[in-house]
Formats: sequence, structure tokens, C-alpha cells
Amino acid sequence: MALDIVILAAGQGKRMNSALPKVLHPLAGKPLVRHAVDTARSLEPSRVVIVYGHGGETVREALNAPDINFAKQDPQHGTGHAVMQALPLLARPGADDLVLVLYGDVPLTTAASLRRLIAAAAGGRLAILTVDLEDPSGYGRIVRGADGNIERIVEHKDASDAERAIREVNTGIMAIPAARLAGWLGRLSNANAQGEYYLTDIVAMAVADGVAVTAAQPDAVWETLGVNSKVQLAELERVHQRNIAQSLLEQGVTLMDPARVDVRGLLSVGRDVVIDVGCVFEGDVVLGNDIYVGPHCVLKNVRVRAGTRIEAFCHLTDAEIGAHCSIGPYARLRPGAQLDEHVHIGNFVEVKKSTIGAGSKANHLAYVGDSEVGSKVNIGAGTITCNYDGVNKSRTVIGDGAFIGSDATLVAPVTIGAGAYIGAGSTISKEAPAGKLTLTRAEQRTIDNWKPKAKKKA
Ligand code: UD1
Ligand code: CA
Repeated sequence: MALDIVILAAGQGKRMNSALPKVLHPLAGKPLVRHAVDTARSLEPSRVVIVYGHGGETVREALNAPDINFAKQDPQHGTGHAVMQALPLLARPGADDLVLVLYGDVPLTTAASLRRLIAAAAGGRLAILTVDLEDPSGYGRIVRGADGNIERIVEHKDASDAERAIREVNTGIMAIPAARLAGWLGRLSNANAQGEYYLTDIVAMAVADGVAVTAAQPDAVWETLGVNSKVQLAELERVHQRNIAQSLLEQGVTLMDPARVDVRGLLSVGRDVVIDVGCVFEGDVVLGNDIYVGPHCVLKNVRVRAGTRIEAFCHLTDAEIGAHCSIGPYARLRPGAQLDEHVHIGNFVEVKKSTIGAGSKANHLAYVGDSEVGSKVNIGAGTITCNYDGVNKSRTVIGDGAFIGSDATLVAPVTIGAGAYIGAGSTISKEAPAGKLTLTRAEQRTIDNWKPKAKKKA
């Protein structure tokens, strides 16, 4: 059995009130349609075709990948018309092959539910993913005969009052016998309330052709919900975040409030991880065992090894943090920050593209950029690596055990030898030799006979 997947994404999405095409609005940091694409990929189809229209090239560019095919539908004459545009890009169908139709604005369908739908379509059947809704208005209704078999789908706008009372609705997701699809689509008409070619009309055709039509149900209704507005987008975001939080709790993570954590990517966790409220995880984040993440931290593409504490209000991007480190509060790690174990990075310290050796500390108010910092180095408050001369970035090298006094300015390229001491307030622009005290400082003087100027009378 070969599987082709068609993702319908040509709809306009007027109600989003946005210049961005609807299917590109992000849910958990990823465009809606990419959720559908990723789920489609997990089913290992032979082909994926995206039917796009509104937002045209933007949608194409956002999804461009070797395994994705694009069919343009412009203008849009309905879901049946949309699938027609994909037909030339589908494989020549074999007898048991299936075409699965997904919607680009329905992001949370699980692969498990789709596998169930595909299983229901085995043996040449047409399978429809359906749900029962308290309020089915707007949806196509599943019309069943006296024997309980599905006879057809009627769209809300075309339905009689009796049909509108039906609570079983078409989610739009269907698995269709591929060998039959072209024939059925060719017979669609647009003589209906919306003047559109309805994909749903193939159901009655299947029944007439003696093809069995069956339904499968998803595990949850939210799997089938689409996004037509920012309100619905926000609702599905919360559903998705709740699911992720649930999974983290099941893995043993302590979430101080499961409703106040946001994961926009992949968060992998070890044992005994504690995450306080208001944290955002983006991209790939890996937290080892015994990690504490304090309130209101943002971690993007960060790996943290065991036993490290990240205190409140840290912003960490593309960084690696070793074991038993202490980060923050209010620390910023920028791309290329690599900390060995037992490193302390305190408040208002920024580290960029630098390696920091084991046991080194920068506890307050410092900028360490383009640097190679050895182990057991102490970087005093207010220390700045001047890595940029307005044209070039240069490196600072600080040897093991060096002590950089407060408010030092290290003008790169510059090397501080192992065990060197730098006097507070120094501007260092030449090599500071190992094991010696180097400082650049004017002598302190006191003017003995100095008197304050008399203030002018107003
Ligand atoms: C469709 C179904 C309806 C189902 C409902 C579930 C039809 C005729 N009706 O109705 O039975 O209950 O979905 O939400 O199939 N699209 C295109 N090109 C078009 C029209 C739509 O690509 O010309 C895409 C949209 O981008 C969207 C999907 O198809 O992803 C569904 O379109 P929408 O307008 O939401 O369908 P409904 O009329 O709500
Ligand atoms: Ca819809």
C-alpha cells in the first residue's frame, strides 16, 4: 500500500486580520502548516503535495523541501477543486493505494489517529475522520442510512433542519482509495449553496459505486480543530502547551505551574528537573538531571548538564552549560557561549562566543565576548572584553587561575597569562604576563589646600 498525502492550504484566512498567510501563523513557534507537514512525514508517505493559493510564494518558500510538492490553486473553488489541482502530482495509483487529505490549518492531529483512519480505509474503503460535536453548526454532517452506514456528507449551508440536527461531523480529513479519486473528482459539480466543488460529494459517489464508506474517530476533538481566527489560534496554542506540560509531568519534571510554561520546539529532560513559572523553551533544549530553572527564563537551543541551577530572569541562546554551574539571576548567554563545569555567571553578565573553563566565575556586571577563559578564573564586576574595534572582532585569552580586578577593560586581541592579576580599573591592551600583577592606573593624589568654589548667590 502506497500513501500520498494532500495538504489543503489555499484558503485565505481573512479572519486572522493579518498580512501573513493563515497557514504560516506560528503555533508553538512553528507555522500551522508545518505541523501538518511534520505529521504527514511521520506516516512515511510516498508523496506530500501542498495545495497553496493565498500567500502564494511566501507559503512555498516557507515550506520548500525536497520531499514536498506544490500545487497552486488560484482562484479557490472549494475543497474538491483543491484536490483536483494536486492530482497531476500524485503517483499513478496502484490498487490498494490511498490518498490522505489533511488541512494546513489543522495543526494538532496525531499520527496515531491518522493511522487508525488509514487502517479503516484498508481493503479499498473510503474512510472519514469524524467527531460528534455538541454544536455542529458550520460543519458538514455525516448522513447515515437506517442501517447505520454512511450515505453522504451534507454541508451545513445545504442541509435541511433534520440534517442540521446531526451531531456527527466531517473533520475534513479523509483517506480515499487512490485509484478512484480522479474519476470521482471529475464528476463533481458546483451546483450547491456555495457554488463550490465539494470534496465531500465524493462520499455519495463512493456509495453509488459500491465502495464501502467508513468512519474513524480521533482520540480527542482538539485534534481536528482548525484555525480561522486569532482566538482559535490562541485556544489551540493552549491545548498544545497543556499537552506538552502533561507529558513533561509524566516524565517526572516538576512544573511549578503546568499552565505557565511554553515549549516551542523540543525540550528533552533528565530526572529531577524543576521548572518554575513563566519559562519559555525554544528550539532544541536539553536539560540533564537535577536541573533547576527559575522563574521567567528563556532558553533557546541550549544544553544544560546535570546539577546546574539557572536562577530567575535568564536569557540563554545557542549556549552550552556544563554540570553544576550557577547561572543568573539576570544572566545572558548568547550564541557560542560554552561553559565548563562549576562555572558561575551572575547578574547582568553577558557571555558571547566564548569558552569558560571549569570553576571560573563572573559574578556581576561583565561582558565576555570572543574569549577563551581558562579554569578557576575570577572576572571582577564591571570587566569588559573590548572585542570590537568598529571593524574587526578580536579574541581575548585569559589563562587558568587569572584574577581580573573589577572594572578592567581588556582590549582585544590580548592575552592574560595564567595566574596573572589585573588591578581594578585597568585598561589592558598588551599581554599581561603570567603570575604577575599588571595594572594601568594613575596614582591617586589628594590636593591638600583645595577649597570648594563659593556658590553664586541666586
Ligand atoms: C470543510 C468541509 C466540511 C467540514 C469542514 C471541517 C468541504 C466541502 N467541506 O468545510 O464538510 O466539516 O471542512 O472544517 O470539504 N481549501 C482550499 N481550497 C479551497 C477551499 C478550501 O485549499 O478552495 C482548504 C482551506 O485552506 C482549509 C480546508 O481546505 O484548509 C477547508 O476549507 P474550509 O473553507 O475551512 O472548509 P469548510 O467550508 O469549513
Ligand atoms: Ca473550516
